[in-house]
Amino acid sequence: MGSATPERSDTEDHDERLARLCRVAIADTAEAGVVSLANRAPLALAVRALAPAVPSDRPYGRRELYTSAEGEVMLASWRPGASSAPHDHGRSRGFVIVLEGAFEEHAFALRAGPTRLEKVQDARTWRRGDGIVVREGPVHALTCIDGGLTLHVYAGPPGPFRIYDVTRRETHVARGGAWLPPDETLTREPWDAS
Ligand SMILES: [Fe+2]
Repeated sequence: MGSATPERSDTEDHDERLARLCRVAIADTAEAGVVSLANRAPLALAVRALAPAVPSDRPYGRRELYTSAEGEVMLASWRPGASSAPHDHGRSRGFVIVLEGAFEEHAFALRAGPTRLEKVQDARTWRRGDGIVVREGPVHALTCIDGGLTLHVYAGPPGPFRIYDVTRRETHVARGGAWLPPDETLTREPWDAS
């Protein structure tokens, strides 16, 4: 059912249509880990005029389009050259669709003795139309090469995740966007507390 073509209705307004498309995208992601190709184009069309502004002190602006117990859909506008902080995705399973622009993704691992965050593979480049699979566990960061727009679909209720501060050498368990300082820090763990 998650990969079914969205049903259409002549009386449906834009908000209802967007909510329905978001529910389908979340169901796709929960079932298969990706939004099906058939559902990406109508979803991209429905969010085209909704790009948020980018605050001056953040790498991207985020607009939550849909949130329920089943998951969340969020649209992000990126500043050219800006990077998210390294972060994981908590307990979420997700899928990020590049709607505009090009991005580099770096993958990291936390190493011990003394604790440090290391890049673990060459950067991957993602372009318009690509989809990035997000799983529980891996740490990554995105850099927007020249301005862009990404659509984030997460299955499951939004939960806390980890943001890694290389400069201050600490990990935030936080909510909100993947930037520093976090929107809301729940706990903060120094890397070498002992
Ligand atoms: Fe991410």
